[in-house]
Amino acid sequence: MSFPSPNLHTDPAQFPGLDVYVVAGNPIAHSKSPQIHQEFAKQAKQNMHYGLLLAQLGEFEATAEKFFAAGGKGMSVTVPFKLDAQAFADALTSRAKLAGAVNTLYLVGEQIFGDNTDGAGLVRDLLAQGLKLHSARILLLGAGGAARGVMGPLLEQSPKCLVIANRSSTKAEELVKLFAQPASDYEVALEARTLIDLEDLVKTPYPFDVVINATAAGLSDESPLSDLAAANIFTPQSFAYDMVYGKVTAMMQQALHRGARVSDGLGMLVEQAADAFLIWRGADLSKSIQPRAVLAKLRNS
Ligand code: ATR
Repeated sequence: MSFPSPNLHTDPAQFPGLDVYVVAGNPIAHSKSPQIHQEFAKQAKQNMHYGLLLAQLGEFEATAEKFFAAGGKGMSVTVPFKLDAQAFADALTSRAKLAGAVNTLYLVGEQIFGDNTDGAGLVRDLLAQGLKLHSARILLLGAGGAARGVMGPLLEQSPKCLVIANRSSTKAEELVKLFAQPASDYEVALEARTLIDLEDLVKTPYPFDVVINATAAGLSDESPLSDLAAANIFTPQSFAYDMVYGKVTAMMQQALHRGARVSDGLGMLVEQAADAFLIWRGADLSKSIQPRAVLAKLRNS
């Protein structure tokens, strides 16, 4: 079953009587968010419209201001504006502060709040795929915004360890420092490594149950892991997850080659959208939307 072509306009004045939401990014034409939110709206019988908003680089603030001034009710924010959205928000949720970025803007009275639902979305997708995160050994590849955004929710699952591996060690070590308190609260061994360390069996700290690629390497068809590192890391028991969606990335191929299970990040996209939808439309609708059905429909479209 395919999705109807959505009406992607974004000016609230064009939709009298409807609450209007958008996803803002650059580029944005490829975004699946309108299909996802329009599907949730149908499931939960919500009178709303969700469109695509291309913001020019350097103009996020002006674009967002105009949208909200025109009566827009909420905004999803994607690459490259998650930091701009954090600066734009009048107030931040604690998880948005910890994530260092905002992917969801919503109104509370006159105030615009910034939240980050990416990490919760990732965790729900992993759990929905049958993974046990409690006591798991998790390797997170990358130490940029995408990695930081998911660390809090991953730590809350109380894995046995969370190893951050990055090309440059400084950034991975900074993340370890930043998240030392939640790691201690949830009794997680939080460690930093370089990607090169993963080639050395002595420095590769554990066998890993879950390997998450949060580097930008997947976008350019590269893997952050050398073949030597991949041979150390993947076994038929591992699960490799790439936050990129819509393709089998080079890292997923390395994992498949060693018999591991793999997943792209489409489920994370749908689950983070579900959280945003419930923030905007009310948590009481959580039983009315079916993110896994929306995901299945997207995969088949
Ligand atoms: P994002 O918000 O998508 O995380 P970012 O903050 O620019 O973007 O971070 C990009 C991440 O991908 C970083 O961890 C980067 O590693 P460095 O800190 O060493 O630059 C990582 N990255 C990008 N391209 C990569 C590649 N080809 N191989 C390995 N890591 C890569």
